[in-house]
Amino acid sequence: MLNVTFDSALRVFHLTNGAVSYVMRLYHEGYLAHLYYGKALPEPLNVESFFYETEREGAPQPHGHEFPRLFSLDTLPQEYPGVNAGDFRLPALEAAFDNGSRCVDLRYVSHRVLKDKPALTGLPAVFAGDRDSLTLEITLKEVAGELEVRLYYTLIEGLSLILRHSEIRNTGSKPLYLNNAASLSVDFLEADFDILSLYGAHANERNVERQPLKHGIEEISSTRGATSHQHQNFVALLRHDVTEFSGELYAATLVWSGNFKAAIERSSFDNTRLTLGINDKGFNWYLEPSECFTTPEAVLVYSDTGLNGMSQTFHTLVREHLTRGQWSHALRPVLVNSWEAAYFNFNEESIVRFAKDAVNLGAELIVLDDGWFGKRDSDTCSLGDWDRIDTRKLPSGLKGLADKIHALGAKFGLWVEPEMVSPDSELFRAHPDWALGVQGHSRSQQRNQYVLDLSNPEVRDYIVRVISAVLSSAPIDYVKWDMNRNLSEVGSPAFPACRQGEIATRYTLGVYDIMERITGAFPHILFESCAGGGRRFDLGLLYYMPQVWTSDNTDALCRQRIQYGTSLIFPPQTMGAHVSACPNHQVGRVTPLITRFICAASGTFGYEMDLGRLSPEDKEEVRAQIALYKELRETLQRGAFYRLISPFEGTRNETAWMHISEDGAELITMYFKMQAEPAARLRRVRFKYLEPQARYEVVSHLHSSTPVHNIYLKEHNLKGQVFSGAQLMSAGITADRIDADAASCMWVLRRVD
Ligand code: GLA
Repeated sequence: MLNVTFDSALRVFHLTNGAVSYVMRLYHEGYLAHLYYGKALPEPLNVESFFYETEREGAPQPHGHEFPRLFSLDTLPQEYPGVNAGDFRLPALEAAFDNGSRCVDLRYVSHRVLKDKPALTGLPAVFAGDRDSLTLEITLKEVAGELEVRLYYTLIEGLSLILRHSEIRNTGSKPLYLNNAASLSVDFLEADFDILSLYGAHANERNVERQPLKHGIEEISSTRGATSHQHQNFVALLRHDVTEFSGELYAATLVWSGNFKAAIERSSFDNTRLTLGINDKGFNWYLEPSECFTTPEAVLVYSDTGLNGMSQTFHTLVREHLTRGQWSHALRPVLVNSWEAAYFNFNEESIVRFAKDAVNLGAELIVLDDGWFGKRDSDTCSLGDWDRIDTRKLPSGLKGLADKIHALGAKFGLWVEPEMVSPDSELFRAHPDWALGVQGHSRSQQRNQYVLDLSNPEVRDYIVRVISAVLSSAPIDYVKWDMNRNLSEVGSPAFPACRQGEIATRYTLGVYDIMERITGAFPHILFESCAGGGRRFDLGLLYYMPQVWTSDNTDALCRQRIQYGTSLIFPPQTMGAHVSACPNHQVGRVTPLITRFICAASGTFGYEMDLGRLSPEDKEEVRAQIALYKELRETLQRGAFYRLISPFEGTRNETAWMHISEDGAELITMYFKMQAEPAARLRRVRFKYLEPQARYEVVSHLHSSTPVHNIYLKEHNLKGQVFSGAQLMSAGITADRIDADAASCMWVLRRVD
């Protein structure tokens, strides 16, 4: 189905994989115009109907053009617009040349079709083979001859998306500055869209926000050195009628973890331009003659089946074409993490006791969080001193502790934060110039720490050496890789003045270099990335580490929203989700243990609490939860995930989603209601995406008023009832009566014929 054609008479490119079509055309002296992206179109195309040139007052014409009043770059839908040459909209590429020119005017030179998807040097990228992908490379040249751009378009078999990135080469004889280099620019000859984006804060990540696209420029971005808690590097343009289940939309994200900018411009002629790439704010790349800059890869999904359709494409992309290594498809263990259980206050004895209690209830992986190195009794010191195990707390070292945990029959995991340094650390005292900093400015602190200068290869080598030594020193099965601050005073003594605008980008490239080396050297370790929770939950890091700590907020109500928003892009097996103690440590709320379980079961499941301190009854509850999770894990982690009721719409008081096993034989539907209401209606939860003729039996029915270990005693239990797919979709299941806040229900159904 994969096909790229070039009609040399009409000068039209058509890329298709049977799911989507992408159409471009060369105009006049080689201007590369965008004609169409959307549902696949059959050949032959009638290219006359996509766009026609028309006169617009105020839109300049290029010099010497044969139809001077009709053609303008300001109205042409373009693929990779330059700047200062007659298009006043958002540029994809900006450069400053040695002769003072700031004109970028790109023209077609040549193209070729590549069977192998080209690698993006030093960058994470979607992988695909020569049988399931096809790439078009188009070379453009700046008219003054100093710069060449190669645009890459990759289609993947069966996926409703296109991948884009570009390479920018200095073809002149003098250095130049790149001031802006987008990964993606796409023009739509229409503007009837809503913008959907994900905003947030620490402990409040990825809220869904939707608003009509207004005239002017809308920006979603980060200058914090990471994707950020504040905005996801994601934006979707939705037709106004789009719902979770239907409607047409375009959604873009980056395989990138650093500063980014998504900008959407609705022009006065009601065209829409979407650009996405590294944020140009603070960015400027010094390009010597023949040097090349590669932009991160952008993913542009098309869906005509609403937001769930979009998410299925992203989820498949992540599972099959992004996460790597032996853990990518493996079932993830049930973990118990020490952070909220003990914070910095633990020793070997207490951790072994903590582990014993957890293993006794069924946990499979014990994670020792922050506090095991240097003199780390608080967050005021010791980051960087990874080679100094705190023997006050761990007298037999990491190995002694790991051996004891293994002897209990569990795996052992460890927290690290390799990208940071405490001012009060041996590392900083020895190498004060290894932290990011700018001459004449004191460094800001965040969480009492500085950021190591990962643009400097010497610093990266040190990190790889010291972390590798830790990971080799003990049998470590899992690593939580944290990153707890934003980048400020971004500068590096390792680079000359002309390259200081590169440091934020080089930092992210440095993260990738370190992660590539360390994850490559320890393929058996399950890595979970974290950045104060979800500051760096993106496709870039998922290339190295297959799961992410979704948020520091473990409250079951907040988590519904956070996981709902996160699931727009990321599948459940990438989302760390843990049951924690009540009152909750972030918001002080008390919620039923079973609601905390049902919500966390939709991710890579675990506990963030001391299970030994639970009442005997709650212990039995946890034992039953873990057993049930293990029974359902295959579907929860490997199945498809669909959202049913949004906590961001309507009353904002309910959430529902469902998991369907790969073979379609098991369904797990979860329903949550945040606040109880007087005289509440009975709520029918309507399932989706089932085969109407199939019949499904309820094999478990959980409700927050009844503990898991008592599910068989529930009066209105639907266990044993059989429903057709058609009935589950059209009539649904009526949720149990809700008489308390933070309520939840969960139904597990299995196909019976
Ligand atoms: C960050 C993480 C937490 C925990 C602490 C330890 O905040 O997000 O989960 O690991 O650091 O200091």
